[in-house]
Amino acid sequence: MGRYGQRHSALAGQRFAYLVRQLANFAGSQRESTEMHGVAIQPAIDDPQSWVDIAAYLDHRAPVAHPQTGSGEYAGLGRGIFHEQCASCHGADAGGDKEGFVPALRHQNYGYLERQMHKLAQGYRHNVDQELLLFMRSFDEHDMRGTADYLSRLTGPGEAKKIMRPDGVVVN
Ligand code: HEC
Repeated sequence: MGRYGQRHSALAGQRFAYLVRQLANFAGSQRESTEMHGVAIQPAIDDPQSWVDIAAYLDHRAPVAHPQTGSGEYAGLGRGIFHEQCASCHGADAGGDKEGFVPALRHQNYGYLERQMHKLAQGYRHNVDQELLLFMRSFDEHDMRGTADYLSRLTGPGEAKKIMRPDGVVVN
């Protein structure tokens, strides 16, 4: 297991817009997570400016260098699934969509990715595309593990990230 517990997301390096929306969702109870709700509904965090501040902070931090990976057994299967079914939205390098709301899936711990895929399939997130949800439901254990395993191994530099300056202007 890596430096982080397997249930935790490697948030550092996650896409800015995505993080803002996730924090807003937690505060609005759209993503079921008792631990996070406890934090997000504190008065100081239940405010859009704080979400932007926290997201900007996390977006600038270096991602986890060595995420926890899976066993490797189904990583090849996962590679195929990812490039066929997921890369169109999450990017071929799994770097996410910087301007939009599609999260990066690289530099994430295996356990976190697998758990999130199960949660997506179970419909815990209410902002997710219905087609994606149905699609995830068709996955078996090997598909899930393989995809999470493949992604947890994507730790190269990826695409360069945009930086938000202190005055709020986003530059390359
Ligand atoms: C139609 C575009 C689209 C496709 C195709 C797609 N995703 Fe996503 N995915 C999203 C969006 C948008 C979110 C963020 C949902 C939210 O706001 O909660 C997401 C979230 C996720 C998350 C949660 C990430 C996190 O850190 O919380 C995982 C894991 C994930 N997708 C995996 C996959 C996998 C695996 C596939 C292929 C089988 C896939 N996605 C295909 C758009 C897509």
